[in-house]
Amino acid sequence: MSNKCYITTPIYYSSGRVHIGNSYTTIACDVFARFNRLVGRDTFFLTGMDEHGQKIEEAARAQGLRPQELVDRIALETQKLWQNLHITNDDFIRTSEDRHQVVVQKIFEQLVASGDIYLGKYTGNYCVSCEAYFTKSQLGENNTCPDCGKETKLIAEESYFLRLSKYEQQLLNFIKENPDFIQPESRRNEVISFIESGLEDLSVSRSSFSWGVPVKSDPKHVVYVWIDALSNYLSALGYLSDDDSNYQKYWVNSQRVYHVVGKDILRFHAVYWPIMLMALNVPINFKLMVHGWILSKDGKMSKSRGDVVYPMDVVNDYGVDALRYYVTKELPLGNDGIFSYDRFVERYNTDLANDLGNLLSRTVSMVNKYLGGELRQDPKVVTKYDKELRDLAQKTKDNFYNYLNNFRLQLALNEVWVLINRANKYIDETTPWVLAKDESKKEELYSVMYHLVEVLRFVAVMLSVVLVESAPKMYQALGLKAEDITWDSLEFGKLANIKVIEKIEPLFVRLDPEKEQAKHQKKTEEKVDEVEKKQEITIDDFAKISLVTGEIIDCQLHPDAKKLLVLQVKIGNEVRQIVSGIREYYEPQDLIGKVVVVVENLKEAKIRGLQSKGMILCASKGDRLEVVEVKSLPSGAEVN
Ligand code: ME8
Ligand code: MG
Repeated sequence: MSNKCYITTPIYYSSGRVHIGNSYTTIACDVFARFNRLVGRDTFFLTGMDEHGQKIEEAARAQGLRPQELVDRIALETQKLWQNLHITNDDFIRTSEDRHQVVVQKIFEQLVASGDIYLGKYTGNYCVSCEAYFTKSQLGENNTCPDCGKETKLIAEESYFLRLSKYEQQLLNFIKENPDFIQPESRRNEVISFIESGLEDLSVSRSSFSWGVPVKSDPKHVVYVWIDALSNYLSALGYLSDDDSNYQKYWVNSQRVYHVVGKDILRFHAVYWPIMLMALNVPINFKLMVHGWILSKDGKMSKSRGDVVYPMDVVNDYGVDALRYYVTKELPLGNDGIFSYDRFVERYNTDLANDLGNLLSRTVSMVNKYLGGELRQDPKVVTKYDKELRDLAQKTKDNFYNYLNNFRLQLALNEVWVLINRANKYIDETTPWVLAKDESKKEELYSVMYHLVEVLRFVAVMLSVVLVESAPKMYQALGLKAEDITWDSLEFGKLANIKVIEKIEPLFVRLDPEKEQAKHQKKTEEKVDEVEKKQEITIDDFAKISLVTGEIIDCQLHPDAKKLLVLQVKIGNEVRQIVSGIREYYEPQDLIGKVVVVVENLKEAKIRGLQSKGMILCASKGDRLEVVEVKSLPSGAEVN
């Protein structure tokens, strides 16, 4: 059997900053990748960036950047973050890279040629923020997006479609025949009912913006961002390229391919992606691990409440291991979890400083005090307590393996803490300080020390996948050699001839919860203030905007947008067309003759098919809106 393992995170959108919530997927994958390497598998761990789409094009424009400049910046920033979190990805794929775009174009053309993609026409409500279309029945109140709540736009465009309907039954059969394809089961059931409700063909191209992979045979279209993005899992392996050896190795001939994703992107990975693979004749041999969300105490993290937490904030205050431990421990495979500093500090103190840190420092101090810091080999005398601890260590290793092997990270950590706590209790039961006073208990004392060190060796090796800075410190403190810290060396009693460190520093320094709480309270308040304080601009910033008066000489309804008016505005001798979203507030004829204030130097744009140059200033409050009017000056006057 091949020992190849392929692990992927979703590629992250370049439109936002990675916060503690979405850092979860990558940290979890890193833990999983380290585990697979630890147990001897040849592991390829992929992450990257999802860089195309209208949202990014618009974000770049708003910042006065070319889209490529924007995504370059964000990719750099994100890569730096992953380095700081000690993420051990083997590759970092970006969808704006040539090596990826070429593959997307080939995939698209191949599917056009096979008839799985065809040209049609699309009308529907589109959410720019989520890059997804929704049917009428899916929309929220006032045609808002059911996922993010923002307004959707009604769009009609020529579009290519992927024949999902053709593969509906085949996909259902596949999911039913492979019960471990989508995990946990609750998510699998969700997917089954979604498919059973019927699949409509999916629009897979866009012609309303250009920041994407052009369709090779019809370049006025760009490939839908999800088709583009999902393909990264194959393009990174060299699929359809001159050298597809990694694709053969880590995909075709691997029994361990894992896509790890959050619940919000389940449908794309459990429905669209496998159908793409079926149409391409690529084996669907991945497993989909679907995790929940990390929320704040009040639900989704929100900037205006000041409770968005960024990973480096935590790392700078408490170290990378505390962050990695917290998130890994917090989410089961299935439900949501919470990040709050209160909870974080409690976890840190209880699990890391007390349970783990104290076990290590007590043990090392006692080995120094009672045995001159040295341990030779497995003791002969074995009490009932020794035997129990020894059996538990062995069992913990097996359970830890079985849980992590199935991506049950939280459960795997829980097992390790059962062993840690048992070892702490073992110290109280065996009372080494009493044994030390009795010369006839020498062998028994030695046995206790040996058992504690041996347990700590097991613990350190298991935790090395999460606590990337502390595990090496533990190895050093215990005097472990390279051959003592391999997975295969975890047989109880193998340890021999070591010398522990003479003076041990605490692994995790205990925190004062009240102090920490006060500190974070203050920071949260500052963040809220910052959001509330409007950004100041200089007089030079203002001077960039040219405002003039203009007379509305004609006004019509927009032919295919309910909320828009098409205005002809005379500015001095020039007449220009401006499309404005004020239909709800004015009848066209009421606007004719008004002299209004126009942003004169706004970049020309096409709004729902019509040219528009300039913008009319309006004042609004609640649900009322009025255009800003000038009463007695003619058109063409400067406003400043
Ligand atoms: O979805 N808690 O990218 P993304 C836990 N570009 N996980 C969270 C989370 C939270 N609060 N919020 C988001 C995308 N996530 C697409 C993927 S793959 C072909 C394209 C998770 O940057 C989310 O579920 O929005 C996803 O796994 C990851 O963060 C990146 O999300
Ligand atoms: Mg998202």
